[in-house]
Amino acid sequence: MPENKLVVTDARTGKQYDLPITDGTIKAMDLRAIQTDPEDFGVLAHDPAFTNTTSCRSAITFIDGDKGILEYRGYSISDLAEKASFTEIQWLLLNGEMPDRAQHDRWTGDLASRAKLPAGLLETLRGVPRDGHPMSVLMTLVAALGAYNPECRNVRDAAVRGEHIRRILAQMPLLAGAAWRHRQGWPQLASKPELGYVGNFLRQVFAKDESDAKAVSPVLVRAMDVLLTLHADHEQNCSTNAMRGVGSSEADPYSSTGAAIAALSGPLHGGANEEVLRMLAEIGSTANIPSFLEKVRAKKAKLMGFGHRVYKSYDPRAKIIARTAKEVFEVTGKNPLLEVAVELERIALSEPYFIERNLYPNVDFYSGLIYQSMGFDPAYFTVLFAVGRAPGWLSQWDEMLRDSEQKIARPRQIYTGHRGRKLAR
Ligand code: SDX
Repeated sequence: MPENKLVVTDARTGKQYDLPITDGTIKAMDLRAIQTDPEDFGVLAHDPAFTNTTSCRSAITFIDGDKGILEYRGYSISDLAEKASFTEIQWLLLNGEMPDRAQHDRWTGDLASRAKLPAGLLETLRGVPRDGHPMSVLMTLVAALGAYNPECRNVRDAAVRGEHIRRILAQMPLLAGAAWRHRQGWPQLASKPELGYVGNFLRQVFAKDESDAKAVSPVLVRAMDVLLTLHADHEQNCSTNAMRGVGSSEADPYSSTGAAIAALSGPLHGGANEEVLRMLAEIGSTANIPSFLEKVRAKKAKLMGFGHRVYKSYDPRAKIIARTAKEVFEVTGKNPLLEVAVELERIALSEPYFIERNLYPNVDFYSGLIYQSMGFDPAYFTVLFAVGRAPGWLSQWDEMLRDSEQKIARPRQIYTGHRGRKLAR
């Protein structure tokens, strides 16, 4: 049986080195033994954007990009989206197993008892511009929430982590709801956890004032629950990498979550769902699709909501979202841009430019159409992504702090600047 190792020869010295292969990887630190002389620092691996680098061991989410497989703790995303609730998914991601009835009841009770925002935080919100980007508002509120929880800084204590994971998950939908009401200029509403996790959130979003007793359609509650589940985790994506990176310095979970929200807000990541709607509105009708795709091929525009670092086939979440869209449109009326989206997908998936580059719809391509039909404006869409991704960020953060292999993240660099200059004055 061949040994699991690389045997490399350094042509500069003729020396040979054994690099053991573990879990399909070599340890980058093993490269440092490859030196031209004892003074040599040794060889490093250069991998901008970590396109071929593992940063951790994780048991939370599995993705097979070629086969379009996504599993949370081993369960397929299609199974979970169809049969589980978002609060069950929160427990699954954090604890590794689906909760039994008693565990789930205790969990939702823990969240309900923490589902209230500090009054002072709404004061902070009043000071933020109403037309400020909702992701900047959410980032502000989450980081400020840490100031109301000073004991959260003791991140090495598992009980402290557990308490603040509960508080962040309980309050994220309320922060999102408060940000939405502030943006609309509506009065803030008292939390009603008895409506359930998603029901309480959607009441925050849709009720005009306390007297508004109009029930939120159960179809929309269920659709939002599914959308939050689909966004709950996605292994080492950009915002999770930010959560782990900031958390590796033992920063508190509110600050780390604020950093993750910042990363998610970028148009190449979670901000893409907002850009998709802008792109579809710019295209306007199916007649304009060929000229738009010409711009994309000429690299004058990106096909937002398409492409993925890992999926080189259809993002399994996009399929479920497209199905969910049909259920939502039954209630809200069809989004007029759906026809443009479906035709854009059909043409793109038949064109060599996109096929050669493995460009398929990702999670962001259809989600915005649903959010817009629910009444959200495009700038707010990524806030909904953040509410869904919060359990993923926090479970990855908790896993990182439990992992004895982890320490503060601090990459090296290739220095290309000046050296030893004298300031002649
Ligand atoms: C999310 O990582 C995650 O898991 C993220 C996420 C999660 O759940 O956390 O799944 C959520 O962020 C989904 C992605 C949302 N972003 C977008 O939809 C924005 C549009 N997509 C692209 O910007 C791009 O596809 C990325 C950023 C998603 C991935 O980019 P990569 O892996 O860095 O690929 P690349 O930029 O090196 O592109 C390879 C080629 C290039 O062409 P060539 O230079 O080879 O000619 O594909 C082209 C790119 O120009 N390309 C696109 C394109 N995406 C890649 N061309 C047009 N439109 C696009 N969308």
